[in-house]
Amino acid sequence: MNIHTYEKLWLVAAMLLIVGFIATIAYGSVGLGIAMVSDQEETVNPSNLGDDERFSDPGVEQVGENEYEVTVIAQTFMFQPDPIEVPANSTVTFYVTSFDVTHSFSVPGTNINTMVLPGEVSKMTVEFDEPKEYGIVCSEYCGPGHHTMEGQLHVVPEDEFDMTDLSVEADDEVAIGDTATVNATVENGMLEDLETTVTLEIDGETREQDISVGGDETAETTFTLDSTDPGEGEHDWTVTVDGYEESGTVTVVDELEDETDDSTDESAGGDADE
Ligand code: CUA
Repeated sequence: MNIHTYEKLWLVAAMLLIVGFIATIAYGSVGLGIAMVSDQEETVNPSNLGDDERFSDPGVEQVGENEYEVTVIAQTFMFQPDPIEVPANSTVTFYVTSFDVTHSFSVPGTNINTMVLPGEVSKMTVEFDEPKEYGIVCSEYCGPGHHTMEGQLHVVPEDEFDMTDLSVEADDEVAIGDTATVNATVENGMLEDLETTVTLEIDGETREQDISVGGDETAETTFTLDSTDPGEGEHDWTVTVDGYEESGTVTVVDELEDETDDSTDESAGGDADE
């Protein structure tokens, strides 16, 4: 059989095109490192995220010197936590799941762009060199509020990043002569020890206490106040640690009202006036 030269050329060209297409598809799916939502990650129960080890308290965790893990929950129509704050010069691995329907977790300006499916955990690792503020968007239609579904990712300078948390418990009311306590709990979310000072201000008086909190630990500091000195009335207090602040009021009264005493109708306001 005799095949015309031009026909041979066209046959070869068509073959090359087919091989070229296959090569392009193969490169696009493997060579660029683009991954589908991995089914290697353990699945989660979307209706029970509150009891899940990783997702019950979504947020940032330090796992190495410059390594962080962030768990994120996407739900109609928000991301949790928001904003997400990580330091510059870090390697951050995101684990994202959905509480309800299919969303996406996309951060324009980075290579983060993944579908988020209920029950599945999308994992991706990114390096952040420079401080920058990014927006997070959902690019998967998820309902009437889809276009409003957005979040913030703040990459902050290393020296501005900390994972300190302050909570304070204090007496609301004490009888004069008794001791009032202000109990400050400082949580250190970083792996390194935290050396800092807890400051209590009450009635213009300042008290300080140096504390050392181990990595991933909490420390408590208790300030005791002799109520005879400030005397009856309301006393505002403020506790500060590294720029975190909590404040409240302790009321010193002549006599604590008995909970079971119903003889007075002035008790509701807790007013210490005579
Ligand atoms: Cu979530 Cu669109």
